[in-house]
Amino acid sequence: MSAVVPKDGLPFSSHVTGVTARRALLRRFVGMNAPIKNDRIAWLQGPSANCTALPAERKHPWRLILLGAPGVGKGTQAELLTERLGACHLSTGDVFRAAAKCSDCDQSPAMRVALEYMRRGDLVPDSTVWEMVLERSGCILDCGGFVLDGFPRTLGQAESLKELMEKEKLSLSAVLNYELPVNEIVRRLSGRRTCEQCKSVFHVTERPPKIASVCDRCGGRLYQREDDRPESITVRLNAYERSTAPLIQFYEDLGLLVRIVAKGSPDEIMAQTMNKLKERPPH
Ligand code: AP5
Ligand code: MG
Repeated sequence: MSAVVPKDGLPFSSHVTGVTARRALLRRFVGMNAPIKNDRIAWLQGPSANCTALPAERKHPWRLILLGAPGVGKGTQAELLTERLGACHLSTGDVFRAAAKCSDCDQSPAMRVALEYMRRGDLVPDSTVWEMVLERSGCILDCGGFVLDGFPRTLGQAESLKELMEKEKLSLSAVLNYELPVNEIVRRLSGRRTCEQCKSVFHVTERPPKIASVCDRCGGRLYQREDDRPESITVRLNAYERSTAPLIQFYEDLGLLVRIVAKGSPDEIMAQTMNKLKERPPH
């Protein structure tokens, strides 16, 4: 499987220049000592948007990929990990859902097709996903590090990311593969509720909000995702087995895979993850 080629044919470096300059400029506006809050604005909205706050610069930032079936708890762990490690939480699914909810946005034909795939539970075509990631490559190359959640999801996407990172002389710290039996996954998906505004994830029984249907973090409304209907869940699990599970071997062969049994509370899984990460600090 070969890497996805950018549609405009420009070299990757043309898409990613100015990250340091952008960071320096934003620091001036936000203030050097302002508290850092990962608001993911640029990731969710695209190249013309700037985060109101950036993660702290690090000499050895964490660059992690979260793998695992839909509903295994990647988003939940990504939230906990980014709080702990100070990296950016970058979820491709969140970008597509933000585009779907944006009524006054002018959606490109490719994005409209992508959203149809998502509603059905199918994977969005690689070319659309990669174009969307490239538009936001500043988030990936930023010196605060990242936690990639839901990307890469096919061998083509994994090759493209590898190529981009090699060109920029960046290396992944680890690929965390979360594992759980299917019946538990279905239970997690059917009780999930997501915040419309900040995208925080809750569960009606396992991780309930303090006030029903209201986000603990930002007060936003909680909703049930369209692709958490039973018929879409089946399609998503099949797509995972067919296209994403092969990435386990891909990253195992690169010596990056860390296996984690996703049983127990989110905090217990997070503790297990941190223990395993201690054995391989970023360099
Ligand atoms: P995406 O948003 O990435 O969805 P997903 O991979 O299907 O994963 P989920 O977000 O459903 O689950 P999760 O593992 O994050 O679990 P969560 O933490 O929420 O993608 C959606 C769609 O977008 C795709 O189907 C595709 O169409 C498209 N797409 C996105 N990226 C793409 C790409 N790269 N290529 C192609 N297409 C792409 O947890 C689930 C529930 O369990 C929650 O309610 C949570 O509170 C609860 N929970 C979590 N941990 C625990 C625990 N330890 N104990 C009990 N409950 C728990
Ligand atoms: Mg998720």
